[in-house]
Amino acid sequence: LGQSIHFHESLPSTNEAAFRLAADGAEHGEVVVTEQQTAGKGRRGRVWVSPKGLNLYFSAILRPELPPQRAPELTLVAAVALAEALRETDAEALIKWPNDVQIGGRKVAGILTELSAEPERVHFVVLGIGVNLNAGPEDFPPEVATTATSLAQALGRRVNRALFTASLWGRLEEWLDLHHEVGFDPVRQRWKELSSTLRQEVLVRTDRSELRGVAEDIDASGALLVRTAEGSLERVLAGDVEQLRP
Ligand code: BTN
Repeated sequence: LGQSIHFHESLPSTNEAAFRLAADGAEHGEVVVTEQQTAGKGRRGRVWVSPKGLNLYFSAILRPELPPQRAPELTLVAAVALAEALRETDAEALIKWPNDVQIGGRKVAGILTELSAEPERVHFVVLGIGVNLNAGPEDFPPEVATTATSLAQALGRRVNRALFTASLWGRLEEWLDLHHEVGFDPVRQRWKELSSTLRQEVLVRTDRSELRGVAEDIDASGALLVRTAEGSLERVLAGDVEQLRP
């Protein structure tokens, strides 16, 4: 990962830049990095606040040998690598399903994967990661002021961006290789160890409905399994989770 790095002072979104490069034939492992984004994209159409110089914003181009329906596994691979890289700095990072990485219940990093595929074959995946490294409370807009944090805020000291980036890319490469060679199972096991969602009472909002219950497990494709009060086990592939305090 990162044998070829496309660095920019400013971009609308590294995901969009990487998507164009990949469509023009860029290779597996090429990475787009920027100092700031003017239109950083979050999941579900949200904005990813991307002030200059403080944080890490990048997108990696992947050309996995996977059928399209298994592509979502890569998001969980990235969440595991992120949580481990954060924990290496002594922060108690945990993963909230599916792929929010949090410290002390506040979001410190996000992952946005975008896919170009035919029914039978993945052309490429753009794996976009944003990590709040040195942002202070004043750098977050009021909408996320109480739900977001940065690694520096959690640790009480500034973080070296180059060192953190090198560590994260190393972990990502290790986990991507293991996933490629062995499959999803070790990723799923590690994800479960690092998860703050399992065994919790949750409220899940999907595009169509709301569901309440206890998050029991993730299945072999990364879907969340929720036991409802009525006793049925519901499978959730995509949605937002609110962890309710019992
Ligand atoms: C989320 O909503 O949690 C996902 C946030 C993903 C943000 C990163 S920053 C680098 C890359 N480029 C983007 O426009 N988004 C992702």
